[in-house]
Amino acid sequence: MNHLVARSLMKRVITGGDSRRYMSSASRVAVLIRPPFGEAVIGVRGQGVGMLLGGWRRMISTASEPSSTGEVPQTEKESSGTVAEKKEEKGEVMVSSYWGVSRPKVTREDGTEWPWNCFMPWETYQSDVSIDLTKHHVPKTFLDKVAYRTVKLLRIPTDIFFQRRYGCRAMMLETVAAVPGMVGGMLLHLRSLRKFEQSGGWIKALLEEAENERMHLMTMVELVKPKWYERLLVLTVQGVFFNAFFVLYLLSPKLAHRVVGYLEEEAIHSYTEYLKDIDRGLIKNIPAPAIAIDYWRLPKDATLKDVITVIRADEAHHRDVNHFASDIHFQGKELREAPAPVGYH
Ligand SMILES: [Fe+2]
Ligand SMILES: [Fe+2]
Repeated sequence: MNHLVARSLMKRVITGGDSRRYMSSASRVAVLIRPPFGEAVIGVRGQGVGMLLGGWRRMISTASEPSSTGEVPQTEKESSGTVAEKKEEKGEVMVSSYWGVSRPKVTREDGTEWPWNCFMPWETYQSDVSIDLTKHHVPKTFLDKVAYRTVKLLRIPTDIFFQRRYGCRAMMLETVAAVPGMVGGMLLHLRSLRKFEQSGGWIKALLEEAENERMHLMTMVELVKPKWYERLLVLTVQGVFFNAFFVLYLLSPKLAHRVVGYLEEEAIHSYTEYLKDIDRGLIKNIPAPAIAIDYWRLPKDATLKDVITVIRADEAHHRDVNHFASDIHFQGKELREAPAPVGYH
């Protein structure tokens, strides 16, 4: 049986007229898929091995992340066969083709191919830059004051370390900013499982915030490359901050959200200073990275100033979400009792 299948596969592949990649893949399928699973798998997918490999090939064409310009570099285009073969050698392709996992072809609205795997067109949005940037939660209660003072204290070493290097500052702080949403979302997720209750959309809202912050980082890293000691600092800070915030959220989610609310107010301030330096010509207003143009649906000729403006608007939205979450707790209620601001950008 195996012999017959292998031979028919080879014949089909050879007469198909397409590359040796097909041939080598097909023969590997025939060799790798062995009883007891092999015959069953080939039996089910027998007619579609060509399709299966076709699907794999589509995956290969979209598997590599694009460069900062959003286009596949010429050298990579030219050597895509080599890349595919290297992947083949590692066995990655075989696993994908075996399970039939492939990403369907995704295009932009103008029909051009979607170059990103890390986010999809339906996750992009146009930022609401009309949001009030000056809103501030006046600390009234003891916990509010603790949160406010903590954030102001944290600002001192940050100011000393970065001074007016806003690109570097933003990149480093975004590595921290993406933690609270993930911790809060994760804990609410576990609570939902433990208590057999719905979250009111708050899991999604907080995870959306974490992802949005991570996209800020993915954008900033296109502009500023972290040095080795900065990577080391991020590693240390993440280890400390993740655990500290995790414990804080368990003990007092209202304080945790208030702290984040004030951190976001500081982020708005920092990005405003960043924009001032761009206006003064101290920071060059370079073209926006391709990832930012697609993520925030910016015009093709967008600049760094446009990117910082939409990131600052995001921070203002995070400020509102976190102060709102803290207010809900201050009223003695659970987050799920108030509808979560899902998709609030
Ligand atoms: Fe951010
Ligand atoms: Fe933020």
